[in-house]
Amino acid sequence: MTTPEFTRHPNPAGIKRIAVLTSGGDAPGMNAAIRAVVRTGAQQGIEVVGVRRGFSGLHRGELQVLGPRDVANIIQRGGTILLTARSRTWRSPEGRAKGAEVLREWGIDGLIVIGGDGSFHGAYYLQEEHGIPVIGIPGTIDNDLYGTDHTIGYFTAVETALEAVDKLRDTGASHERIFVIEVMGRHAGHIALDVAVAGGAEEVFIPEDPKPVESVVKIVKESVTKGKMGSIIIVAEGHPGGAQAVADALAEGTGLETRVSILGHIQRGGSPVSSDRVLASRLGEAAVFALMEGEKGVMVGRTGGGITYTPLHETWEKRKDVSRDLYRCALSLSV
Ligand code: F6P
Repeated sequence: MTTPEFTRHPNPAGIKRIAVLTSGGDAPGMNAAIRAVVRTGAQQGIEVVGVRRGFSGLHRGELQVLGPRDVANIIQRGGTILLTARSRTWRSPEGRAKGAEVLREWGIDGLIVIGGDGSFHGAYYLQEEHGIPVIGIPGTIDNDLYGTDHTIGYFTAVETALEAVDKLRDTGASHERIFVIEVMGRHAGHIALDVAVAGGAEEVFIPEDPKPVESVVKIVKESVTKGKMGSIIIVAEGHPGGAQAVADALAEGTGLETRVSILGHIQRGGSPVSSDRVLASRLGEAAVFALMEGEKGVMVGRTGGGITYTPLHETWEKRKDVSRDLYRCALSLSV
């Protein structure tokens, strides 16, 4: 094997200046993706402009040129140095027209959007209405985008939630209590399933398979007859009623001591784990290459180890299902 040499990527699109922004809920690893975009640009002779506060900052003209040193010492940092927002103005055609004008004033040849499906909607309409090439990088802890095995931030969120579950298990076991723990995932149970398997949960509730919360009563009663005195139940926030509904059903149906813990936004913070940093670095580079190749309106993803391009609208139109096999495994190991 020989050491790979640096080569210029083909640039038939003649890209000279690009912009990058982060949008929607922040996710650990977004900074690593920004760094990869800026440094790939520098390697390829392309100027990179950072947009602050997502689409909100774009139509207000909050842009600044970023060089390789501006993204030093951020690969390990959670959050996003560019700041992020969920923009209302961007939902109107007038808001997007203003943003497009700003991009034209700055001579931007293409825009890279790091975010989830809401952000990709915004990017898609910008391209449709104003012809500005956009590339999406999947950045959300929810892992709910079709076209990539994983999204940036997901691995870290699972680790953060799992650490909390392990701690709750210590206190739960000591008191012989049941802990109902709610993890993030507005529409998706990916975090819940991984945490349920890795955290040894008794039961898991996910939005993809809504079930009567009363079903937990039978499961916990059985587990008590098997000699288990403390239990961990994982609930994705998107399951109807969330953790509180499950806990209420348990309190009523078993009379056992139950506590609820909603992990919340803590799952969005912290230093990204290595898998998120590597994914973000690969996808940041791939996004710049995609623009140079003349791609537009696609999300760069990692599927089966390779880089893939998926039309932006497919990332939300086609549903990425949770692993049914993992779901089965989570339930069967709680025997
Ligand atoms: O999309 C990521 C996510 O963390 C969801 O899991 C959660 O439902 C939502 O964002 C929370 O959004 P906000 O930070 O706006 O309250």
